[in-house]
Amino acid sequence: LKSRKCAFSFSWYFLMLKSDGQDLHLKNLLILTVATKQTEGFQRFRRSAQFFNYKVQVLGLDEEWQGGDDENPAGGGQKVRLLKSALKQYADKEDLVILFIDSYDVLFASGPAELLKKFKQAKSKVVFSAENYIYPDRKLEAKYPQVRDGKRFLGSGGFIGYAPNLKKLVEEWKGHDDDSDQLFYTNVFLDPEKRVDQHVIGPSGCHVNDVLMKRALTLGVDAKNLPCPVMHNMANCLLQLQLNYLGNYIPQIWTFETGCTVCDEGLRSLTGFKDEALPMILIGIFIEQPTPFLSQFFLRLRNLHYPKQRIQLFIHNHEQHHLKQVDSFVKKHGKEYLAVKVIGPDDEVENAEARNLGMDLCRKDPDCDYYFSLDAEIVLKNTETLRILIEQNKLVIAPLVSRHEKLWSNFWGALSPDGYYARSEDYVDVVQRRRVGLWNVPYISSVYLVKAKALRLELDQGDLFRNGKLDADMAFCHNVRNQGVFMYLTNRHEFGHILSLENYQTTHLHNDLWQIFSNPEDWREKYIHENYTAALKGKLVEMPCPDVYWFPIFTDTACDELVEEMEHYGQWSTGDNTDSRIQGGYENVPTIDIHMNQIGFEREWYKFLLDYIAPITEKLYPGYYTKTQFELAFVVRYKPDEQPSLMPHHDASTFTINIALNRVGIDYEGGGCRFLRYNCSIRAPRKGWTLMHPGRLTHYHEGLPTTKGTRYIAVSFLDP
Ligand SMILES: *[C@@H]1O[C@H](CO)[C@@H](O)[C@H](O)[C@H]1NC(C)=O
Ligand SMILES: *[C@@H]1O[C@H](CO)[C@@H](O)[C@H](O)[C@H]1NC(C)=O
Repeated sequence: LKSRKCAFSFSWYFLMLKSDGQDLHLKNLLILTVATKQTEGFQRFRRSAQFFNYKVQVLGLDEEWQGGDDENPAGGGQKVRLLKSALKQYADKEDLVILFIDSYDVLFASGPAELLKKFKQAKSKVVFSAENYIYPDRKLEAKYPQVRDGKRFLGSGGFIGYAPNLKKLVEEWKGHDDDSDQLFYTNVFLDPEKRVDQHVIGPSGCHVNDVLMKRALTLGVDAKNLPCPVMHNMANCLLQLQLNYLGNYIPQIWTFETGCTVCDEGLRSLTGFKDEALPMILIGIFIEQPTPFLSQFFLRLRNLHYPKQRIQLFIHNHEQHHLKQVDSFVKKHGKEYLAVKVIGPDDEVENAEARNLGMDLCRKDPDCDYYFSLDAEIVLKNTETLRILIEQNKLVIAPLVSRHEKLWSNFWGALSPDGYYARSEDYVDVVQRRRVGLWNVPYISSVYLVKAKALRLELDQGDLFRNGKLDADMAFCHNVRNQGVFMYLTNRHEFGHILSLENYQTTHLHNDLWQIFSNPEDWREKYIHENYTAALKGKLVEMPCPDVYWFPIFTDTACDELVEEMEHYGQWSTGDNTDSRIQGGYENVPTIDIHMNQIGFEREWYKFLLDYIAPITEKLYPGYYTKTQFELAFVVRYKPDEQPSLMPHHDASTFTINIALNRVGIDYEGGGCRFLRYNCSIRAPRKGWTLMHPGRLTHYHEGLPTTKGTRYIAVSFLDP
């Protein structure tokens, strides 16, 4: 209520009251709804009703629901029974209009006056909502009148009519609670006599969806810059119905959640909390398949801005391949956390079971306040993520993450009728953050926060990640939806992205090096020097000798992994001239080396040269456009007792790059490079920096002797 946003919405509220003249209509309109549980959906419905001053009577609260369920949805008879009994008291109220409507998936978008006006325009005593699909008895299709446009079939999710007419409508109900209410109303509607008699106007006469339940979607406004986009549309849009909970989970173009959450429930602010008073979070980490950049993942985990003494870790690692990385993280940093539990590949726990286990740890631990599920392929760059999510104060909430520049993300905006993915109209806008807010969605995965309170109450089943043949993620969402718990997605902040796991090879020592194609941004972050960008702008580039440029290119990690990869491969050339790997005589002087193609790194190296060397070349040698073609690219090893130096030579290249892969004074002594023509030496190469110099003709040079330790350089002869 403190926020300006709320002030804004309230002023609209009063405006609307005035123009609507609602007082007059309040007496003549009653909303009846059946809700056996006060789910989040019901609360949303009630909030919207209160907002517009609707008079609502709730039937069946705390009654056991008998009217069918998701597996056997034909039911609904209980609703008719409750309605029938409730209508008795209104039988003689001829002017009273009653809207009987579902509440879990419905909310109001405008006031009683508008609703009554539209109802009266329909000029019928009773009006039903319409559906695109016939249900539950498809054999009745032929009996349905044709419609020119709009929806053809009757839906029982909402109908409106005069009290005496409604009473008459349900009078004949003698069914059981789990009989189909929709079939009952359909039969009334399809019986010409009854239809005329009761003036039931159904789909053929009046397309309720078009008239009464105009979807907010069609009103499309650019909501981005409005504090509460909802308010602007409300006068136009009557009632938003999510007609079919599964099939038509209407994306929240507007709801009380989007844009108005501040007004809605109030944020729970964590600022001012002492560290030790922050909620305790159990983070479930799932490494379910070979995943690149796992060391970066753990690094980001450690960097999350949240006290580690308020975090417990549950790690499920399904992959032998990652044993070492997990081990090393737990050994080095496990103690910083409140507790750590690891389930490894040898425990043979499969995905769904592991996820159930992790959640259950939090559920059963009275000190656990939140459960945060995090899959290893999620690159969570926002270090404030945990705090941001907690502050939203929702039972289940996911931060939006998506593949770089792709539409693949961790949520669905809608479900298909059979419960799989369907593209919602606003999906792209939400993924690309052209619409920003807090969205109620039917499916989330990979990273989300769940209140432990909900795990102990609404989501108390221990087996949330299983449901028939559904995958664990879909089963989870299915079960959460079934419990009437809303899943939210926030894209109010940037959180990070999802790695591509396709083409991740596990045959090398440092497999991330090979990820330059699949995950170029992550590759760059891990391997390209933080000051490369500055170098690209001409800053930090040095010229230690004429036409010899020197600039940062690799991180320490890149250098280390490349060296380790070469040593792991181990087949260093002998340094004699007859080595068969020396192709076409380009390599004038033999070195102790391993070529990129020997470790299967040719394509990747070429991509690296193209993406990172070519742009800078064109900057430094204006007018020269390189294709960064190479026939020779290799790592050279210098050792005092092996090959300490290299005699003067020309390179068989137009230009050469020479990247120092380790540190003088620490890893080796001596070394360096001398350009004879200029009598100019670079004696203290910097790790991760490259020399770039013209090859044949001018830059006759020699490798100065390494006197101690081992020196490694990565050399490429470009445009031979
Ligand atoms: C990048 O450049 C800045 C400014 O020159 C320097 O302070 C920083 O140490 C450099 N980063 C690395 C990794 O060398
Ligand atoms: C090369 O430079 C060194 C010092 O940098 C100097 O001692 C030497 O005389 C120079 N040699 C020639 C041939 O100019």
